[in-house]
Amino acid sequence: MGEVTFNPMDPEFVADPYPTYRRLRTEDPVHQNPLGFWVLTRYEDVMATLRDARAVKEPIAAFVAARFGAAVPAIGFSMLDRDPPDHTRLRGLVSKAFTPKMVERLRPEVQAIVDGLLDGVEGAGTMDLIEQFAYPLPVTVICQMLGVPVEDRERFKQWGLDIARGLDAIMLPPDSEVARRSVASRHALTGYFRELIAERRTTPRADVLSDLIAAEEAGDRLSEPELLATCILLLIAGHETTVNLIGNGTLALLRHPDQLRLLRERPGLIGSAVEELLRFDGPVQRTARIPSEDITIDGRTILKGELVMPFIGAADRDPAQFPDPDRLDITRTDNRHVAFGLGIHFCLGAPLARVEGQIAINTLLRRMPRLALATERPVFRQSLTLRGLESLQVRF
Ligand code: HEM
Repeated sequence: MGEVTFNPMDPEFVADPYPTYRRLRTEDPVHQNPLGFWVLTRYEDVMATLRDARAVKEPIAAFVAARFGAAVPAIGFSMLDRDPPDHTRLRGLVSKAFTPKMVERLRPEVQAIVDGLLDGVEGAGTMDLIEQFAYPLPVTVICQMLGVPVEDRERFKQWGLDIARGLDAIMLPPDSEVARRSVASRHALTGYFRELIAERRTTPRADVLSDLIAAEEAGDRLSEPELLATCILLLIAGHETTVNLIGNGTLALLRHPDQLRLLRERPGLIGSAVEELLRFDGPVQRTARIPSEDITIDGRTILKGELVMPFIGAADRDPAQFPDPDRLDITRTDNRHVAFGLGIHFCLGAPLARVEGQIAINTLLRRMPRLALATERPVFRQSLTLRGLESLQVRF
């Protein structure tokens, strides 16, 4: 057994996980947790596992079902939960809408949404950056791409939060409140998409949803559960993460005035700044895999069928890979962070998240030259897999 006690649900850990990551990385880098899973915190081990074809996804659904106490709608059917060949087929059906080339075309649209949101708060002097800026931007963009009416966003906002929080259920005792809320919200969101799909079947449009319906109707390319799971994945992954790139990223800049000043003076640094913000306090802190045969890491053997969690947030602060890793440096070069994962499941939405993050942060700094924190202690959500703020009060 390892030396370090690690309780992922400790509120102190959730508020600031980085000291615990440091301890695990140095004292117990392949940590076997009494809650029933392994934890990897070194960059090298996280990279190796994400690249390892023997570290698979499909058996995870059974772990999730055990924690949820029920079969859960849309778990186990999306690309994120599948291995080749099904992963390849499902990703192939939507990948062309998310290529860097397609996403570049969205720049003017993203800029218009950002400007509209900032126009809306102009003169107010203060805002909750999460509620009024960081959340509405990605939700509007992904709704438009998918073909989901953006005016429905109040209907699915809480479902999205519950489903995002539900990613933690695998680390909690069975049948937790978190799991129950997530199941209920998955049922609700599935029902919502069933209605929308029925409507769109009769009147297709130029959107990702209509393309998916066409693929399903073509027969052997996409089953109905896969169609529903893909819609839920794209909607949730499309906004519950990017909101936190903008939120965590803005907070990091406001806490590092020298870096904020540098970015204001040289907005051309926004590309490397966003990569550094993703590394420094990324929206996705961990993922999971299951070895299809016994694997040995740093002399410890993880058995076939055991649950392993590569902690992305820890890997991205590993001094063996990033010099002075706890320093925010928007000019950092050779920044090979794993905030978007690696290997076959590398984030499909990375080009989109980058464009949204770059335009949002640069426009915010340009239009609000006096932007400052209006709270001493911003509160992070009680959420572990996805890391983000409950709210962020700012003055401008
Ligand atoms: C800053 C924002 C984002 C971050 C940090 C992020 C992070 C990640 C990570 C770490 C994975 C890999 C998970 C794993 O290996 O288990 C992933 C997968 C994925 N992401 Fe993102 N994501 C972001 C934004 C988006 C957006 C905007 C979309 C838009 C649809 C999206 C869609 C997806 C999809 C579909 C997958 C599954 C890919 C696969 O299984 O092949 N993500 N994301």
